[in-house]
Formats: sequence, C-alpha cells, structure tokens
Amino acid sequence: MSDAVDPDRHRPLEHALGRHTDYGAEQLVEADLAADPIEQFARWLAEADERGVYEPNAMVLGTIDPDGIPSARTVLLRGVDGRGFTFYTDHGSRKGRALHAHPAATLVFPWYPLHRQVIVTGEARPVPPEESDAYWAGRPRGSRIAGAASEQSHPIASREALDDRFAEMEQRFAHVEDVPRPERWGGFRLVPQRIEFWQGRTSRRHDRLVFTRADDGWSLERLQP
Ligand SMILES: Cc1cc2nc3c(=O)[nH]c(=O)nc-3n(C[C@H](O)[C@H](O)[C@H](O)COP(=O)(O)O)c2cc1C
Repeated sequence: MSDAVDPDRHRPLEHALGRHTDYGAEQLVEADLAADPIEQFARWLAEADERGVYEPNAMVLGTIDPDGIPSARTVLLRGVDGRGFTFYTDHGSRKGRALHAHPAATLVFPWYPLHRQVIVTGEARPVPPEESDAYWAGRPRGSRIAGAASEQSHPIASREALDDRFAEMEQRFAHVEDVPRPERWGGFRLVPQRIEFWQGRTSRRHDRLVFTRADDGWSLERLQP
C-alpha cells in the first residue's frame, strides 16, 4: 500500500491539519494603539519576550529574486527604531542578491502563542559598513569564524568539504584576536512603508490595524479579517 492511502499513517496529520483553535478574548482597538507603529511594535515585541515566545525576534523575510521569483526564510531582527528594522546576513546569499536587485521586501513576525502577527513591508538597503563592523565585533567568535568560512547559499560538494573550510578558518585565525568581517557580510535595514498588527479573536473576528506611511507621519486603517 502506498503512503498516500494508508489511513493509519495519516491520522496524526489529519489532526494537525483539521484544528479550529479559538484565539481567545484579547483584542486590539484603536484607543490602545501607540500613535507611532514602531512604538507599538516595540511594545508587542517586549510582550512576546515576556510571555515566553521562543525567539521573539525571529521573522520571516520575503524577497524577490533577480528573476522575479519570490523567496522567503527566517532571519533574526537585531535592531529596530525610527530608521527601520535591521538584520544581518551574507550579501552574497540568495536573499542578499535578491535585495540588491529588488529592495522591496516584507517581514512577518509569527507570534502564534499570543495569537498575534505583525507584517512589515518596505525597502531594505545595506547599513553603513561601520554599523556592520560594530555588530560583527559583538558576535561570538564561533559565529565570526562561521561567517568567514561559509559563502551562504552557495552549493558545496559535501559536509566534509564544509568541515574543511571551517577547520581552515579556525587555523587561520587561531593566533589572532580579530576575525575580520568579510566584505560580503553585513546588515540590511528595512524602512517600513506599511505595518500591519493582527490580533486573533474568537470566531475569526480578528483585529487588523494597518499603519501606512503618509507625508506627515502615519495613517491608520482597520481591515476586515
Ligand atoms: C530561527 C532562525 C534564525 C535565523 N537567523 C538568521 C539570520 O539572522 N541571518 C541569516 O543570514 N540567516 C538566518 N537564518 C538562516 C536563514 O533562514 C537561511 O537559511 C539563510 O539565511 C540562507 O537563506 P537564503 O539562501 O534565502 O539567502 C536563521 C534561521 C532560523 C531558523
């Protein structure tokens, strides 16, 4: 019997796919929102952390490849302020090449245990090299060695070949305090044009409040769930 028609094998999967979770009594109303969406985001991020969300600064970054194909992956938010949302990566990676071709990008913060989601859309540009230097200097030594050894998203022949590259880098920098930042490694800052706050509620009556950048600040709109 093939896997596709074995009911026993698929019972747990049906359980996972068939849920109708009640998202509870929390709500998001205009009167409780900060006037500035970055301030509102900071409040929700702090709450996600306090309420025990695993990796609360993890976000799914969606980009457009040079050939127009979308792609997405998780990265960690490392800074947020009035200038935007900052993350660090290899600029030669798939996402790096995508952003250099098409700066338009989106970030999704999936805070499922809180029945919350934030979606940020805007353009992501490289941060100044001094900023990447400062962040690089604060990374653990092992992460710096790995960053120097790995040309992210490029194919490699085998695990052994990768281990050899790591060993070579460890040897190269064994007696040196500083592991220099590879030029290809650094930050991007996404400057938001739109920030949506989503709060799940009972019976799919979810709250969706969207800030859009306007000439004199931000405009606010409520969307149907
Ligand atoms: C929780 C988590 C956090 C991650 N954080 C980062 C990050 O901050 N920067 C990064 O380059 N990759 C990070 N990754 C790895 C990326 O998801 C991805 O595999 C890698 O960046 C290559 O993506 P690309 O080929 O689309 O460029 C993280 C993965 C996970 C699961």
